[in-house]
Amino acid sequence: MATLADPQPDFAILPDMAADVFTAPLARPAHVGEDWLEPAQTDYSADDHAVWDDLSARQMELLPGRACSAFMAGLEKLDLSRGGIPEFGKLSEELGALTGWSVVPVPMLIPDHVFFWHLANRRFPAGNFIRTRETFDYIQEPDVFHDVFGHVPMLTDPTYADYMQEYGRAGWKAMRYNRLKALGALYWYTVEFGLIEEAGEVRAYGAGILSGPTEARFAVEAESPNRIMLNVDRVMRTDYVISDLQPAYFVIESFADLYRQTVERDFDRLYRSLPAGFTYANSAVIDVDNVLHRGTQEYHLRGGRGSGALPV
Ligand SMILES: [Fe+2]
Repeated sequence: MATLADPQPDFAILPDMAADVFTAPLARPAHVGEDWLEPAQTDYSADDHAVWDDLSARQMELLPGRACSAFMAGLEKLDLSRGGIPEFGKLSEELGALTGWSVVPVPMLIPDHVFFWHLANRRFPAGNFIRTRETFDYIQEPDVFHDVFGHVPMLTDPTYADYMQEYGRAGWKAMRYNRLKALGALYWYTVEFGLIEEAGEVRAYGAGILSGPTEARFAVEAESPNRIMLNVDRVMRTDYVISDLQPAYFVIESFADLYRQTVERDFDRLYRSLPAGFTYANSAVIDVDNVLHRGTQEYHLRGGRGSGALPV
């Protein structure tokens, strides 16, 4: 078996973890193998499909003018609003014909190295469950709606699809240097909460924005959050919140620019210079920032989620 220090060049084999590599310990359910893949996609009930349809209809009201054109085109190409939770076999066939990616079901958040391994092989792991009516507006664990509706349309864009594969490959390097937090921040501020400049406006390409109604408005047009042009070295030093709206969003010029800033550079030197923890608070504006919008931070100053503060 390949080891973490010496992964297979084509990343075909899941690498062994050295004992001194830090990753979050997760207990593997008995019914999944080393690859953490579910034996089959869940057989969803009519109610489950109706939850998908209602979530999808709500987002479709909000996303035109807020989501980037690559996302809207991806939704259309994969016909994700055709009704019901997509069947992964058919979805993977269509996505595979476009960019060679497939979508595979996993039971829960999976260990980092397994997640990286799937991405490096152009497989996107998606939660094999859907939220209920009780958790309709907010769930902590990503479900099939977040993963498929939020992430998969972007995988129809060839440059973005390549970025995601390279992100998976980059994971091993981050683990070797014990800089997973830094790489996690990059994922957070691009794949989950990224904005892009389009026709003189900012639009969303991050799945955390595109799969939620409040964040879709807040990220793009609220006064509270900072909107800053993406600088990878700075973003990898920046803390982030996972349970509330973001105090800052980072904006790319294009997916080619994102690819250039990340894949086409040598991260070894960066990892050697990065501290193990974060340097900047998530609301900070620093000297090197190219600021598009300096936020008021009103939402977070009023207490954020749970305080009843309006996402203004
Ligand atoms: Fe996600």
